[in-house]
Amino acid sequence: MRDNVKPGEKWEFNEDVAACFANMLERSIPDYKSMRALVYKAGERFIRPDTLVVDVGCSTGLAVEPFVEKYRDQNDFLLIDSAYAMVEASRQRFMDEPSVTVRPGYLWDHLPFADPASLVLSVLSLQFMPTSYRQKMISDIYDGLVPGGALILVEKVVSENLDELMVQMYYEMKRENGYTEEQIMEKRRSLENVLSPLKPEWNVDMLRTAGFREVGMFWRCLNFCGWIAVK
Ligand SMILES: C[S@@+](CC[C@H](N)C(=O)[O-])C[C@H]1O[C@@H](n2cnc3c(N)ncnc32)[C@H](O)[C@@H]1O
Repeated sequence: MRDNVKPGEKWEFNEDVAACFANMLERSIPDYKSMRALVYKAGERFIRPDTLVVDVGCSTGLAVEPFVEKYRDQNDFLLIDSAYAMVEASRQRFMDEPSVTVRPGYLWDHLPFADPASLVLSVLSLQFMPTSYRQKMISDIYDGLVPGGALILVEKVVSENLDELMVQMYYEMKRENGYTEEQIMEKRRSLENVLSPLKPEWNVDMLRTAGFREVGMFWRCLNFCGWIAVK
């Protein structure tokens, strides 16, 4: 379904958003397909049999879906989201998958994970969580990983340099993808104080502070970045 959502004063992940979510991401995230493909390719290198694969802020389950398709016989999958509509959408997507459990609630209420994980995905999710909790959550995720396991983190960022240019180019991309000026500005207003991007270095600092021994940026487009952090 095409994204024509009229954002409320404060952004919500509700039924309307869930219904058109794939289209919304495709048209709102720069270089979207390559980000998705790289998350999958990178993630595959860290999955170990008989461990958990966790998707934090899973939304409708798009990030974890290819992993479920390939690894359903050797892994269990834990999906967490605080939005009721998103939990329902993920449950719907994976209703015939006994390896998948979708848990509603805030991420911090599910940490530490009950079983060791080899791969944790956080794709555009941490940015919606309180900044003051992020270090603790990343540290808890680290503690829950097996040695050699990885967190794949994709976030919107505030650039140290040329941020305004990045933002303007980002809006240009959204216009090219069929969003009107009004839609772009309404969404921007609605996301204020709901989405809190950090500088790329601050994300790296949190990963290092948690103890990750290797942290590498595998993808960047405009004001969006992705890192692989290995325990
Ligand atoms: C942009 S979406 C994530 C997209 C998804 N990971 C993907 O790859 O398609 C952000 C998600 O994070 C969820 N979220 C926000 N705050 C959360 C929290 N404190 N705990 C768990 N989930 C949260 C939202 O409900 C939303 O579904």
